[in-house]
Amino acid sequence: MANPPTKEQERLAALLQEGRTFSQPDEFRRQANVRDPKIYDEAERDFEAFWAAEAEHLDWFKRWDKTLEWNVPWAQWFVGGKLNATYNCVDRHAHSARRNKAALIWEGEPGDSLVLTFGMLEKEVNRFANALKSLGVKKGDRVAIYLGMVPELAIALLACAKLGAPHSVVFGGFSAESLRERINDAKAKVLITGDGAWRRGHVVPLKHHADEALRDTPSIERVVVVQRVGAAAPTSLEPGRDFWWHELVAQASDQCEPEAMDAEDILYVLYTSGTTGKPKGVVHTTAGYLVGVATTHRMIFDIKENDIYWCTADIGWVTGHSYIVYGPLANGCTTLMYEGSPDYPDRGRFWSIVAKYGVNVLYTAPTAIRTFMRWGTEWPARHDLSSLRLLGTVGEPINPEAWVWYHQHIGRERCPIVDTWWQTETGMIMISPLPGLIATKPGSATKPFPGVRAEVLDANGQKVGPGAGGYLVLTRPWPAMFRTIYGDPDRYVAQYWSRYPGKYFTGDGAKVDEDGYFWLLGRVDDVMNVAGHRISTYEVESALVDHSAVAEAAVIAKAHELKGQAIAAFVTLKDGIPPSEELKAALRQHVANKIGAIARPEEIFFTPELPKTRSAKIMRRLLRDIAEGRLLGDTTTLADPAVISKLKQQYEEEGKGE
Ligand code: PRX
Repeated sequence: MANPPTKEQERLAALLQEGRTFSQPDEFRRQANVRDPKIYDEAERDFEAFWAAEAEHLDWFKRWDKTLEWNVPWAQWFVGGKLNATYNCVDRHAHSARRNKAALIWEGEPGDSLVLTFGMLEKEVNRFANALKSLGVKKGDRVAIYLGMVPELAIALLACAKLGAPHSVVFGGFSAESLRERINDAKAKVLITGDGAWRRGHVVPLKHHADEALRDTPSIERVVVVQRVGAAAPTSLEPGRDFWWHELVAQASDQCEPEAMDAEDILYVLYTSGTTGKPKGVVHTTAGYLVGVATTHRMIFDIKENDIYWCTADIGWVTGHSYIVYGPLANGCTTLMYEGSPDYPDRGRFWSIVAKYGVNVLYTAPTAIRTFMRWGTEWPARHDLSSLRLLGTVGEPINPEAWVWYHQHIGRERCPIVDTWWQTETGMIMISPLPGLIATKPGSATKPFPGVRAEVLDANGQKVGPGAGGYLVLTRPWPAMFRTIYGDPDRYVAQYWSRYPGKYFTGDGAKVDEDGYFWLLGRVDDVMNVAGHRISTYEVESALVDHSAVAEAAVIAKAHELKGQAIAAFVTLKDGIPPSEELKAALRQHVANKIGAIARPEEIFFTPELPKTRSAKIMRRLLRDIAEGRLLGDTTTLADPAVISKLKQQYEEEGKGE
């Protein structure tokens, strides 16, 4: 480190000082949708009235009788109201001045593209809804969807919602087994999949995985297959069971009446990882969800009528459900959907898309931003990013370095950044700045959304003081909250509402500073966050012990420069099985096959023994200390303290964790 810091480095260091506040440029504030700070006080005083006023933005077949029925922890919002989500997202715009406005802009990975106006989208959705009807789908039937980011994915969601058939989207990167598990839990009647999906110029053989899953999914009666990759993945259809999407819609009418849904009818189920057991089906209902996502989308992203809005998530996750499909479309906003990876065909792909369409609002993840940082500023510098007005992030805590890089090199110091904290369960953004009102601090999601109440508690349920860490809880119902775990209401109560009775336990650690700003500190349970994807240690451990060579496994998340967290597995082999590099590779692949590539451990470490307490509980905390190169924490409760010191020595000798 012989060189003195450059001016630029000095400037950056100053920006990164903890607590530095960025006020939004006047130019932005003057044009912001929400400019009056009274919104916070008013919503705080009467949050039901706040949400009821927002619900007026939707079109109702029948107005609700009661805004909220709250029997802790069971919520009903807009009780007695009738509406249809797709009618609100598509039809009403198609029959307004927005008819010829772009609803969905789709950019394909190889460079093909498609624009559907609201008028065109209405017809596509109707055709496919009629196709589903012809396959026997009725209100209440569950439909599983396993696709890449093709326009048919958004159309399929909306077609299901039009019929009142709850969809259950399974991320296209999940394995056959993960798909099967989710189909069976939801008892889905129909599966919508594709011949394949493009990923960095390669084909993901979706139908092949689907066929494998379908060997043991008794509830599935029919399968619809979208043709995306054609000859690149020769696909066979099983007569009587499988149908091509394009053949079904070719015969279908483009007229379809929306089903009048009860406010509390299920809109969708989406599976996510919990601390124990299998992934759980998070249930979202119709009215409250739509009110929550439309309101937050309009206010937080400061949406204007002519905006091009791009959320880079995959619709396989909640971010895509809420902020690619339902929120933007409910607001009549043009939403952009991109099929591929940020580095295909080159590392400037995102920025060329921003320039090509004149994207005004960009919503992405810290893990992507850190990757862009590593690729260098020359990529964004080559493109015209002057259309951008506002930037968002979601999925994991954003480190201040990445925040400042995003601000400088993408936002060119003009665009506010909204760091949005929320979860699959919350359905909508819960903690985030309103960009016209709240000054930002890099690394803080700032304040709860109007009407939302969040607290940080200690283990005894007492509020902690400014700056002290604790558990983040939400203390008031909100309209987009999940209503239960599909088929498992006890788990809903036990996992989320029992630790602090009457309060929603988020599973996240947080602190609040002197200004009332929230700083998220990551999960406090056994859920890992790898590149913004939620995976439980339990799932990966189960996949490892499923391999014939493995006796026992303990999985932890270790800090990772790009992904935020990476998966490290400590594995004990069965007697007589020699450790080898080949076996490590085989185990990593085994996990990818069982769950999906996102769960592939970054690192596998063979050990003759795992550190356990006297009651035989594996001490993951100590394994984390080892993997992250720290001094070992308290080891007094271990059954045999020698195990851990040996393990640490062995780990260091093998040169891990550098
Ligand atoms: O730990 C928090 C983290 O992501 C978790 C929720 O994951 P999932 O249900 O998959 O939804 C992700 C997208 C909404 C949270 O418990 N998380 C999400 N956003 C943030 C975050 N952590 C810090 N800051 C955020 N902005």
